Amino acid sequence: MKMKPWIVVVLGAGTLVAVADDLDFDGHHMVEPDCDAISGWYECRSIDDAPPEVHLGYEYMHLTSSTLGPDGNTTYPDTGEPYVTTVTSCSSCHFSGGQVPFGSPVYQSPSKYTPNPDTGLGPYFRPLGYHRDLEDSIIDCFRNCMNAERAPTKDDPVMIALVEYIHWVKDGLRDPAMRADWTLLPPEAGPSLPSIAGVSTMRADPLRGAQLYNNRCADCHSEDAPGQGEYRVGEGRPRIPALWGIRDGYSKGAAFYRTPVLGAYVQKHMPLDEPMTLSDQDAIDIASFINAPDKPRPEGMADEMYLHDDADGIPSTLRKPADWLVGYEYPGEREYFESQGVDYEDMILNGPWAQLAAWRAAEIVRLQSCPADLTRDGRLDFFDVSAFLNAFVGQQSIADFTGDGLFTFADVTAFLNVFSAGCP
Ligand code: HEC
Ligand code: HEC
Repeated sequence: MKMKPWIVVVLGAGTLVAVADDLDFDGHHMVEPDCDAISGWYECRSIDDAPPEVHLGYEYMHLTSSTLGPDGNTTYPDTGEPYVTTVTSCSSCHFSGGQVPFGSPVYQSPSKYTPNPDTGLGPYFRPLGYHRDLEDSIIDCFRNCMNAERAPTKDDPVMIALVEYIHWVKDGLRDPAMRADWTLLPPEAGPSLPSIAGVSTMRADPLRGAQLYNNRCADCHSEDAPGQGEYRVGEGRPRIPALWGIRDGYSKGAAFYRTPVLGAYVQKHMPLDEPMTLSDQDAIDIASFINAPDKPRPEGMADEMYLHDDADGIPSTLRKPADWLVGYEYPGEREYFESQGVDYEDMILNGPWAQLAAWRAAEIVRLQSCPADLTRDGRLDFFDVSAFLNAFVGQQSIADFTGDGLFTFADVTAFLNVFSAGCP
């Protein structure tokens, strides 16, 4: 008998036992929440009791392959193309459809992305340079985690069902105050991703990671081919998700394409059934091996990231986390580290990351003390004058040197004064 996914059986006095999907692979199961351990603040409920639109959203999230994926039956009405091109399911990463603490849960997401009632805008994402709401996050995951060229619009029925489902997960939080404000969640509820203390001064070794991967992960995650996991058409989701590959690996724009982020996640949840058995060093070594450039991987939105500068003129590339393998590098940073004998690409993949974070922080401070460097390239030259004139004519705030909201001759004088004073 094929069991329904995510059946929660009530066993007498308040004991909740979650019965896994009948994935039927060598006795293994998926990652699930420990419903007893979290019962103080979260109630595991049966999806079967949820309203139909919630159930539909759950199927999109959990059985992605057989709904939205290449083997699915839900396609864009105008083109007939599937919504996602990978066979990965959303819940391959958002474990149990987003109900596992530190397993990229979604119970916090509705309140985290609630737009500000005054401005109507969601929280501001500094490195990406935009305000985002829950739907934007879903769009990012379609593009970056699921490799989709196209993502559903905010009023697409698939989007609406996913949002309904995510709200249902949130309603499992017992305390209404926590449903409305995710910062009130207890520490054991997460932040949504785990982290490794002190990782920024560590260094990962991909060769050691290769050996560990072969010993601890390959049995499952190299089932169909190296890094390819195991997938059987008709099961609705991969038995074991692929960790790389041009169709099924997460993209270069995904959060997992960062060694410390992936390392911490792997340590917390993998190997399946043996969580927290890898040391900090083991975990980042394995992550470095998985993210190494020899692994084929789709580009995702990698090239579109970090293009938006903040209103204060500080380029977003300077504010991107030091361990992001993609995105534009800041002028001068590669040259600086290479002059110190550091292999720049290797540092981004394998660390230590603290030195790059510190370099960028210092650069931001320097630029803030040098407002005339409007091109933010660390030099005062003709291009800054030209940038000032363009911004002045276009009435952009960075040309308002007097800060009075007007664009007058006084701004020109003030600009020329700081320009001729030079930069520290
Ligand atoms: C390869 C792994 C992976 C896959 C597949 C994936 N995601 Fe994600 N998703 C992540 C990670 C990692 C984050 C970032 C979590 C964080 O920063 O706290 C994230 C963030 C999100 C968020 C925002 C969560 C928050 O509270 O900030 C939503 C919503 C989301 N994903 C929905 C989806 C949906 C829907 C799908 C399937 C269409 C999907 N994801 C597929 C890994 C994945
Ligand atoms: C016994 C089989 C098994 C072993 C061993 C195992 N995994 Fe997994 N892994 C899984 C399954 C199954 C999932 C998906 C779980 C789910 O859907 O709830 C998964 C999910 C993952 C994910 C998130 C999915 C994604 O697309 O990124 C990562 C990362 C991962 N495993 C890495 C590893 C690493 C690294 C190791 C070795 C340290 C490892 N796993 C060992 C079975 C295994």
